[in-house]
Amino acid sequence: MAPVLLLLTAGGCKRQPGSVDPRPSELPPVAAGDLRPPEAFAIITNQEDRSRALFLEASRVLLHPRCANCHPSGDVPLQGTQWQPHEPPVVRGPEDRGVVGMECTSCHQDRNLEHARVPGAPNWHLAPLSMAWVGKSPRAVCEQLKDPARNGGKTLAQIVEHNAHDELVGWGWAPGWGREPAPGNQKLFGAIIAAWVETGAQCPTEEARP
Ligand code: HEC
Ligand code: HEC
Repeated sequence: MAPVLLLLTAGGCKRQPGSVDPRPSELPPVAAGDLRPPEAFAIITNQEDRSRALFLEASRVLLHPRCANCHPSGDVPLQGTQWQPHEPPVVRGPEDRGVVGMECTSCHQDRNLEHARVPGAPNWHLAPLSMAWVGKSPRAVCEQLKDPARNGGKTLAQIVEHNAHDELVGWGWAPGWGREPAPGNQKLFGAIIAAWVETGAQCPTEEARP
């Protein structure tokens, strides 16, 4: 039954035939701009499968352009919803904060500047390359997020804390000037990450997509 359902629901996307989707089709549907609450995953009785499904839900935020534009896989921040390079041209520089004369914070203030359309939040700068997400699968993002060698030396508890309270993360839901916010809200997203950790912080299969 499962493979047939997968083909029907995958919409002809990149999933390999025979791959396992940890998210059963019984999960309630969700609008593009919303997140399923952690309770919705209680119907998945196997704890490891539930954990994988929770991460896939979280990946709808992590890989949303509001987050991933600042977690690029190259030296240039991205903007908009189509992975366009930053305009005007800027580069990450030696400390992910731009270069002398073109520092991120010469333009980006600690809050959005609505008239100038410049987004802003405290300490605006790029995530280091070890935390790059653009072009990666949810599984790859999951593995590096758990890895202290790549996540800035964070424990899982600190990963929960960062996602639930960091101000650059929070900007994803208050991006200003007609930009589409990340799905759901930071509180719900923090609760999903916490539930993922509580269920053993399992990573989905390479092919799995939310
Ligand atoms: C303005 C740029 C910017 C935006 C926007 C941004 N981040 Fe980040 N992010 C960073 C920087 C810089 C770091 C590194 C900070 C550190 O190590 O303490 C980081 C680190 C992280 C980490 C730490 C672990 C890791 O491996 O990546 C997580 C988790 C994270 N961000 C989540 C998010 C989420 C979720 C969003 C969107 C809702 C988001 N970020 C949006 C700049 C950004
Ligand atoms: C010369 C001014 C200037 C500098 C320097 C600058 N930015 Fe920007 N940035 C802008 C403006 C203006 C926008 C808004 C573009 C738009 O939305 O049309 C923007 C947008 C962005 C966005 C897109 C947000 C989104 O999701 O659409 C990110 C991410 C970003 N900048 C990161 C950075 C980082 C990181 C640096 C430093 C390496 C930096 N910027 C340096 C002016 C600047």
